[in-house]
Amino acid sequence: MEETLIIQSHQANQSEIAFASDWRGLGEWIGLHAQAVWVIYDRSVEDAAHAIVGALKDQSIRILGVHGLAVDETLKSLHSLATWYPTLVEDGVTRDALIVAIGGGVLTDFAGYAAASYLRGIRWVAVPTTLLAQVDASIGGKVAVNLPQGKNLIGAFHLPSLVYINPSTTLKSLPLYGWQTGLGEVVKSALIEGGALWKLLLEGLPPLGQMNDRWETVIRITAQIKIDVVNRDLEEKGERIFLNFGHTLAHAIEQVAGYGQWSHGQAVAVGSLFALYLSERHLGLDREVRRVVSTWLGRWGLPTSLPSIDYAVLEPILMHDKKARLSGLQWILLERPGKPVVVSGLPRSLLEEALAALS
Ligand SMILES: NC(=O)c1ccc[n+]([C@@H]2O[C@H](COP(=O)([O-])OP(=O)(O)OC[C@H]3O[C@@H](n4cnc5c(N)ncnc54)[C@H](O)[C@@H]3O)[C@@H](O)[C@H]2O)c1
Ligand SMILES: [Zn+2]
Repeated sequence: MEETLIIQSHQANQSEIAFASDWRGLGEWIGLHAQAVWVIYDRSVEDAAHAIVGALKDQSIRILGVHGLAVDETLKSLHSLATWYPTLVEDGVTRDALIVAIGGGVLTDFAGYAAASYLRGIRWVAVPTTLLAQVDASIGGKVAVNLPQGKNLIGAFHLPSLVYINPSTTLKSLPLYGWQTGLGEVVKSALIEGGALWKLLLEGLPPLGQMNDRWETVIRITAQIKIDVVNRDLEEKGERIFLNFGHTLAHAIEQVAGYGQWSHGQAVAVGSLFALYLSERHLGLDREVRRVVSTWLGRWGLPTSLPSIDYAVLEPILMHDKKARLSGLQWILLERPGKPVVVSGLPRSLLEEALAALS
């Protein structure tokens, strides 16, 4: 079951997305497109990385370096970039080489930004190994590292030449927590798409943590939703903003709680319920949508409420965004599943009411 989809970027370079259940296709694709590769991988997926290097060797591709590392969010820093650039030089990585990044969103964001900036940009391939990276982080070419002042402040749009998604092999080892982090995005995507994914989940939820065909379908459709949106709006000048559904409150929750206290998926879960409540009150969204989503979240062990929190604590964080300061807070709301809209100027009393409804 192999399939390739294409994201066409504004600069004639393009991103192909392949879904597969082995690594042979990855080796073959790279054999056709590059002479030499440099591999960087998350040590949590050592077995997959070894198998991939084997598939590259089968194609007689020159391997300039293979580096496994322990990964956490601190990898996404200027400091670690500064320690890795010299390795790229010492390993002889030149403009015609390809970086192969194997890991979750942290590794692909980091390696993707290294590829975007080294030698004014070289090609890279993403092999995402977490649910979040397979349905979100590795798709769409946003790559970045963090500053102490905030996440993803130094970055670029640099599409990977190939995103190679092999859920059946990689997700077997993903802990429950890793599944939950990605599920926030699955629910968000179902809401903004309102079609195949929404219907599939309505028909019955695949059980958490057990990789099977239903999950493969969910991952494929969720990834496809992001591909379609990014295809139409790579640089977030229009509809790509809809992918931020549930994220305005989610980012504030993550910040108030302190990063790492709430996973991104947990925060997106509650942020989505908040946006659904606002949608009911402001746009007349059917209440049944929030009830259904809340049931899904509960079944997947994601939170459906917030510890009591005063809007006055959240407001300065929500307003921190430059756009918010200029034009007031913007919210992505839903008229119905599949019909997201951007709304601004919501009264403070409504935001307070929606927050109270979550506690
Ligand atoms: N570029 C984008 O568009 C975009 C979008 C969303 C998120 N992100 C970024 O993605 C990052 C989060 O990604 P993430 O949730 O994948 O986190 P992550 O990369 O930190 O992975 C989570 C944990 O799982 C481990 N891991 C990875 N693959 C595994 C596997 N198959 N089995 C077992 N363990 C595995 C990792 O070592 C890590 O400990 C954040 O930095 C976020 O900013 C980027
Ligand atoms: Zn997200």
